[in-house]
Amino acid sequence: MSEINKDGVDALLANNAKWAEEIKAKDPHFFEQLAIQQTPEYLWIGCSDSRVPANQIVGLMPGEVFVHRNIANTVVHTDLNCLSVLYYAVSVLKVKHIIVCGHYGCGGVGAAMENTQVGLVDHWLRNIRDVYYNKADEFDDSLSKEERINKLCELNVAQQVANVSHTTVVQNAWSEEQPVAIHGCIYDIKDGLLKRITPVIDSIEQVAEQYRVA
Ligand code: CO
Repeated sequence: MSEINKDGVDALLANNAKWAEEIKAKDPHFFEQLAIQQTPEYLWIGCSDSRVPANQIVGLMPGEVFVHRNIANTVVHTDLNCLSVLYYAVSVLKVKHIIVCGHYGCGGVGAAMENTQVGLVDHWLRNIRDVYYNKADEFDDSLSKEERINKLCELNVAQQVANVSHTTVVQNAWSEEQPVAIHGCIYDIKDGLLKRITPVIDSIEQVAEQYRVA
């Protein structure tokens, strides 16, 4: 068995010291001000994929975006982790925008289309398999495997945007006249570009009647 290099993280600590110095050089009080409070306007719900880092791809500094990431950017109604993040972001931090960000070529989405087991994560991906089943008629045989995966990546974002709008957290905010807009975007790892793929949802009227709970 090969030994792990125990110094492997030292380079990161050196990077960190340099990064903090560079920020302080531009704005000497940056960290002091940030330590007092955070007032992000955005909640980001994205994939854990290492190639889709929230702050970097939208050019935001520490303090500007509250982030939740999981495999295949899903918003599952029984996931207390995601719901707690959503609750804190909307009810306490009063974010104005919630961005659900998927990405093309998502491994989690691809796994949800296969007729094989990956392991524990299969249970996590189950609701994406349901999206695939429910939208089966949108996948015709002319699509390549890559196109099928990318299509489901988009449909998954749309479903997760809807799931956010179905939560009591968001609907209660709307009923108290707190503005919250939900955006669905997808990121292309091949060119670094992000684009919108769903209409902005910012009112209860845009939620299907069966899902209205506020
Ligand atoms: Co992914």
